[in-house]
Order: sequence, then C-alpha cells, then structure tokens
Amino acid sequence: MASKTNRAVGVDIGGTGIKGAIVDLDQGVLQSDRIKVPTPKGAEPQDVLTAVKEVLDTLGVSGDPDVHLGVAFPAIVKGGRTLSAANVSEKWIGFEAEKFFEDGLGRDIHFANDADVAGIAEVRFGAARGHDGLVLLTTLGTGIGSALIYNGVLVPNTELGHVQRAKHKGDAESYAAYSAMEREELSWEDWASRLQWYYEYVQFLFSPDLFIVGGGVSKHADRFLPLLKLDTPIVAAVHRNNAGIIGAAALALG
Ligand code: BGC
Repeated sequence: MASKTNRAVGVDIGGTGIKGAIVDLDQGVLQSDRIKVPTPKGAEPQDVLTAVKEVLDTLGVSGDPDVHLGVAFPAIVKGGRTLSAANVSEKWIGFEAEKFFEDGLGRDIHFANDADVAGIAEVRFGAARGHDGLVLLTTLGTGIGSALIYNGVLVPNTELGHVQRAKHKGDAESYAAYSAMEREELSWEDWASRLQWYYEYVQFLFSPDLFIVGGGVSKHADRFLPLLKLDTPIVAAVHRNNAGIIGAAALALG
C-alpha cells in the first residue's frame, strides 16, 4: 500500500456519473472502493459540488485537507476556468470552477479536463507508458473526450469529440459516442461502423502511432475493437474507466 504521502483522491465528473476513489500513486491503482453517484440532472455547479461532497464523505476524506484532491471535468479547462459545456449546464462556460470547488470544499484542488487526466494516467501507469511518438487517447462515454500525447507530453484541451461530421451535420460525439449507441439501441456492429468513420477521420488528421480507448465501454473492448480496421494500432486503456480517477489523483500530487 502507498505511504500516506504517495496517495491522493481522484474525482472524475462525467455527464452521467461522478466517480471517486483514493489512489495509490506508487502503483497507479485504486486503494479504496470506487464510489459512484449519478451526475445531478442539468449538472448545475451547486448540485455537482454537493454530489462531489457526497463522494468525499463516503470515502471518508472530506475532513482531511492533507490528502491531495484532483477533480476531472468534461469541459475545456484553462487556468482553473471551464470554457465549454457540451453535456453539462451552460453555467460552466467561463466559470471559475477550480475556485468554486476550492471554496465549496474548503481545500485546495487540482482541476483539469477528464480525458486529459485519463491520458496522464495511461502515460504514467498504462498503455502509453514509455510510448514515444503520438498517442491519442479517446474516451467513449456520454461524449467523446480526447488526450493528445506526444513523446509522453500532453497537449491539453484537444476536444476531438467535436470534429464535425458533415453527413449528419453535427459533432462526432453525437454520432459515435457510447451514448449514441445506447440512445439509438445500436448493435455492436452498427456502432463499430460509426467508430470506423471516426477513427479513420482522426487518423487522417493526426497520423497517430497509437490509439487508446477509454471510458466505461472500454471494459467491453473485445466486442468492438476487433471490428475496426485501421492502420494505427488501437488498444483499450489499461485502467478502463478508472483512468480518469487515477489521472486526477496523479495530477493532484504533481
Ligand atoms: C467535452 C470534453 C470532454 C468529453 C468527455 C465532451 O463533450 O467537450 O471536454 O472531455 O466530452 O467527457
């Protein structure tokens, strides 16, 4: 088990659920149960804060400001401010989110984009570890998140779920995220043909050396990754849906 100084709490706020755990940062693994509460309807800042407090209370760490806390959020995050709101309340646009959580929780936090921190987790402890060249992690969930990593260094806030698909006049994520599969009750094959379009397009734009697929559905990677025909190798995130929690915690400790 990691010493007290090499553990931190990661909280991953998603469009559907808010997940948190204490993370052992020697090993890059969860050291506690994973606590999950639903993301409040409308995902307004105050309601999200209340839900995050519930997660921290359940983990038994809310009264311990010595345990570092990282929070991941599904939006562009720059200098602690959220600058977009694809699957959350529009109140987050141009919002001093980091300060809001710090004031509300009474402690310092580290705050970043959810896919970016998942990318950090995979660089430090997973599929991108020691991988040179261009690695592109995508999370398939309510939206599509992206983390672009070049020679181990993250280029933050790439937002590649929002590349446009001319044929359906909309964002890639509304066509190819896991939520589209659920909403439209697609078969694995039908969903994979949408992913084929998406990954081929992104492959054309970036010529990556490796694709990593995260998000909750990555635990079923064997159902859809073998259906994709790409020149770029594509693998599931080693930490599956926990990559966001682990990466948020890793960021908190620096
Ligand atoms: C957001 C991204 C986020 C992704 C995954 C997108 O809709 O714009 O910031 O990383 O969803 O949650």
